[in-house]
Amino acid sequence: MAVLVLEESQRRKWDSADDLLFYAEPRFVHHLDQAFRQRLTALYAERIPAGAVVLDLMSSWVSHLPEAGRYERVIGHGLNEKELAANPRLDSHWLQNLNLNQELPLPDAMVDATLMVAGWQYLQYPEAVAAELLRVTKPGGQVIVAFSNRMFFTKAPLIWTDSSDQEHLDYVASVLKAQGWGEPELISETTRAAGLLGVLGQNGDPFFAVISQKDQAARS
Ligand SMILES: C[S@@+](CC[C@H](N)C(=O)[O-])C[C@H]1O[C@@H](n2cnc3c(N)ncnc32)[C@H](O)[C@@H]1O
Repeated sequence: MAVLVLEESQRRKWDSADDLLFYAEPRFVHHLDQAFRQRLTALYAERIPAGAVVLDLMSSWVSHLPEAGRYERVIGHGLNEKELAANPRLDSHWLQNLNLNQELPLPDAMVDATLMVAGWQYLQYPEAVAAELLRVTKPGGQVIVAFSNRMFFTKAPLIWTDSSDQEHLDYVASVLKAQGWGEPELISETTRAAGLLGVLGQNGDPFFAVISQKDQAARS
């Protein structure tokens, strides 16, 4: 049973139609700029060990994993079949609307690292998702939640649309902690735009991440 953090009013969003409709057509675009993606890939290279079982939750046609990274298995989840089928990093995938059903179809303690990129901001029931992630994660495993300052505004619950970047970090951390995840590490960085714009001093998408571990001694 998940420990609730949000009030019901904070779960509301402007567009309450089924999220599957919003994601019915594939979007073969990058949701985040090159500077953000490079920072994310570097973080993955640093934090995800070779041979890990990786879950890319709320994924698309890209997983941002380092090309040289060798994992036991990368499992993908999302809302668009064509996007997930086109993602070269995924060994398998499934579709599930997490705002309708938060129960993950995975056994206990099978995952070493869960990635969530520009996805948490659309969760209306993040507590139940975080509790499920804890269940499917091996003791000592981790979750890496990354996001920037952009969103599909009508699809994000009020808790996200009405908060600052720092509040987003604190909110994700508080939900994870409430479900029993370890003390989260918060990353908040500016990035330098790629190419000439960067040379001229322009910033890229700001980079935010919350990383948390499941207790090594936890019963699996
Ligand atoms: C902005 S995209 C980010 C996709 C991917 N992580 C990336 O880095 O390109 C948001 C993703 O969140 C997922 N998503 C949004 N609402 C969802 C919901 N209700 N249930 C499950 N997944 C959802 C979809 O997979 C969608 O592609």
